[in-house]
Amino acid sequence: MDSIRITGGTELNGTIPIAGAKNACLTLMPATLLSEEPLTLTNAPRLSDIRTMSTLLESLGVEVSSLQNGQVQVLSSHGADRHRADYDIVRKMRASILVLGPLLARDGVAEVSLPGGCAIGARPVDLHLRGLEALGADLDLVEGYVHARAPRGLRGGTFEFPLVSVGATENILMAATLAKGTTVLKNAAREPEIVDLADCLTRMGAHIEGAGSAEIVIEGVDRLHGATHPVVVDRIELGTYMLAPAITGGCVTLEGGRLDLVEAFAAKLDEAGIAVSESAAGVTVSRRNGRVSAVDVTTAPHPGFPTDLQAQIMALLCTAEGVSVLEERIFENRFMHAPELMRMGADIEVHGGTATVTGVKRLKGAPVMATDLRASVSLILAGLGADGETTVSRVYHLDRGYERVEEKLSACGANIERVSQDD
Ligand code: UD1
Repeated sequence: MDSIRITGGTELNGTIPIAGAKNACLTLMPATLLSEEPLTLTNAPRLSDIRTMSTLLESLGVEVSSLQNGQVQVLSSHGADRHRADYDIVRKMRASILVLGPLLARDGVAEVSLPGGCAIGARPVDLHLRGLEALGADLDLVEGYVHARAPRGLRGGTFEFPLVSVGATENILMAATLAKGTTVLKNAAREPEIVDLADCLTRMGAHIEGAGSAEIVIEGVDRLHGATHPVVVDRIELGTYMLAPAITGGCVTLEGGRLDLVEAFAAKLDEAGIAVSESAAGVTVSRRNGRVSAVDVTTAPHPGFPTDLQAQIMALLCTAEGVSVLEERIFENRFMHAPELMRMGADIEVHGGTATVTGVKRLKGAPVMATDLRASVSLILAGLGADGETTVSRVYHLDRGYERVEEKLSACGANIERVSQDD
């Protein structure tokens, strides 16, 4: 198992290219099941989660060709005639549940194992199931599998989400494109990944209005066709690398970055005393003079502060002047990075969904362990700013969501390398 070794304390200066969004790509790929014609995704990120989704789709009979070193994915569901998503693949990645809606919409039948994914709380899929029931699906849970049937096809319906769910909105949105009649989704997720999915489905011939707002209206069509769609830039990778110069000092431009994707996050950086600007080249971040100030952060569905950047901003706030209070409102048990940051000298108290961070002057390098995807990158960020050497082990989590982290950071002057176990 690889680990990442960092010697901290170096300013970062330069340019980091931001890839296409993992979470967008993982929902765009299953959309191929809605059409017999090929779906071509450009600007795809090169990540192990994307390979896992390819394997899952291939197990359903989809042909997947990865071109240009993985940056272009061509998917064809022409011969896809299988309907069972096996536990062995699904358990590796929660986004696997996103094949359920498309399979059901196309063929009226699907069997999908209940998913696994990061260990950040219970993460049920009840909303995915209730939304599909609102479109007329019959669902049963049999030995860990969702058995879904809609023998006469799905029909449009109205579904109001009792709480905002990105994945459930995506699943039901995809299913509704081929349902008979009109579907209205209320209290829908508004994340940029939903807008990207709706754009792609529209290119495939779907009739969708309101994506990006809390109410999405979908007029079902008989069939969708092929399309080529560029994956939206990854706002979480963008936010993560925006924190690197904020922590180390220096000035870094995030190529392709767009501030409209990370408004709530960028506002917090500004409040903390970090200079953020946007130009045609992307987003540029540098530290203003002096120590960063403490800020309070509460995670919320988009356009609020993203839960997927909570661990990373905590790494910044560990050395801020004053006390920061971080409230995690999306997932329980999403502070597993806190005890690891404390090994590096951070002063953090966690009570339930609240972490109180009292800034210390410097962190000290230490051996730490990655517990989930975003936690692992927060430890890397902390290590970049810490005195001495930090080794982050169990980085397989990292490879699920960040491509070439060591390369991207070392190009800006970071002292970072990957160490494989036999080294
Ligand atoms: C997606 C992202 C994940 C990100 C999260 C929030 C993908 C592949 N994953 O996850 O990286 O952290 O959005 O931005 O895009 N919930 C239920 N029942 C459900 C579904 C969700 O109770 O059926 C709850 C969850 O436990 C959580 C909240 O709703 O408390 C939001 O979850 P959701 O938005 O669905 O997150 P994911 O789609 O799993």
